[in-house]
Amino acid sequence: MAPKKALRDRQEALGEVLKSSGLDVLLLTKRENVRYFTGFTGEDSYLLAGRGWMRLLTDSRFEEQARRECHWLEAYIRKDRMSLAVAAALKRRRAKVLGVEGFYATVALVGALRKGLRGTRLKVLTDQVENLRQVKQAGEMAKIRRAVGVAQQAFMQLTAGGRRAFIGRTENELAAQLEYRMRQLGASRASFETIVAAGANAALPHYRPGSRRVGRDECVLIDWGAMVEGYCSDLTRVVFAGRIPPRIGRIYEVVLRAQAAGLAAIGPGVSCDKVDQAARDVIVAAGYGDNFGHGLGHGVGLEVHEMPRLGRLSRTQLQPGMVVTVEPGIYLPGLGGVRIEDDACVTRRQGRFLSDLPRDLRSMVLR
Ligand code: GLY
Ligand code: MN
Ligand code: MN
Repeated sequence: MAPKKALRDRQEALGEVLKSSGLDVLLLTKRENVRYFTGFTGEDSYLLAGRGWMRLLTDSRFEEQARRECHWLEAYIRKDRMSLAVAAALKRRRAKVLGVEGFYATVALVGALRKGLRGTRLKVLTDQVENLRQVKQAGEMAKIRRAVGVAQQAFMQLTAGGRRAFIGRTENELAAQLEYRMRQLGASRASFETIVAAGANAALPHYRPGSRRVGRDECVLIDWGAMVEGYCSDLTRVVFAGRIPPRIGRIYEVVLRAQAAGLAAIGPGVSCDKVDQAARDVIVAAGYGDNFGHGLGHGVGLEVHEMPRLGRLSRTQLQPGMVVTVEPGIYLPGLGGVRIEDDACVTRRQGRFLSDLPRDLRSMVLR
């Protein structure tokens, strides 16, 4: 039986990469890439993709799983080192040029392949394969939407308890509650380590939740996401356990305007750096340019951070079907911070949020 049409389309696109990169065979080592072209979800498994053929290199732990998930794909069950499995699978294949993923193949693997493959030249790819994953197919979009829906619902459940459910709780407890709810709602796991940062901790963009308890009238930054059928969501809200600290309230309004400007700038053919710029201009004009160090956003899909990047250095042009986060932030050391993050898809005309949790300042006050 042949793979489904969605997979066949992806494999065809991969064939084009082989051609344009001058490869006979490509060795895919990155788990999400193997999954993207095969549907196989196991670990420690590589994919050899030639012109018109594919072979999964795995081991006995995943033999049955490979049969279930991609019965159409020939699997090589290795008992030895991966480099030997690659050499064995390439025997009798004409492989003059073998591509490897430069960002993911280890130095050790490349060294072993260089030694073990006589007559085969290795060519290092950069992001050619990741680029194929940027534009989402309808089925992928549906999964991302579900991942967004689960994350939103979990957040609504958590905040429904009002400030009483927050004050006196540790950041870690709140993160655990959110993750528990996401799994109950159908997520396989959180799409990354949930961030819950209370008060001044919100000034750290990628804070790790700890034992600090939420106090009355404090802001709490929550950055969370669900993974549903392998696809991720990634959202951030800042809620207030009582009154809004005036300085935080002011930067909140700036960040909200910056996010709206970022979304408004999204459209097909727009260069990613221009979207970053549109949001950044708002923050710079308000005098907080130095307090917004990271890029505006990133692609979301099988990985929580993938191509394209919405940053100053990215000249990628947006295309319909891409999904990106829009997440401006202002961080004030010692005081706190605000980031507002939503996931947006690029339609044929504009950018549209996939998430619809309230984001206006008043709605963020826990009752
Ligand atoms: N959750 C990490 C990020 O927003 O990129
Ligand atoms: Mn996030
Ligand atoms: Mn993000």
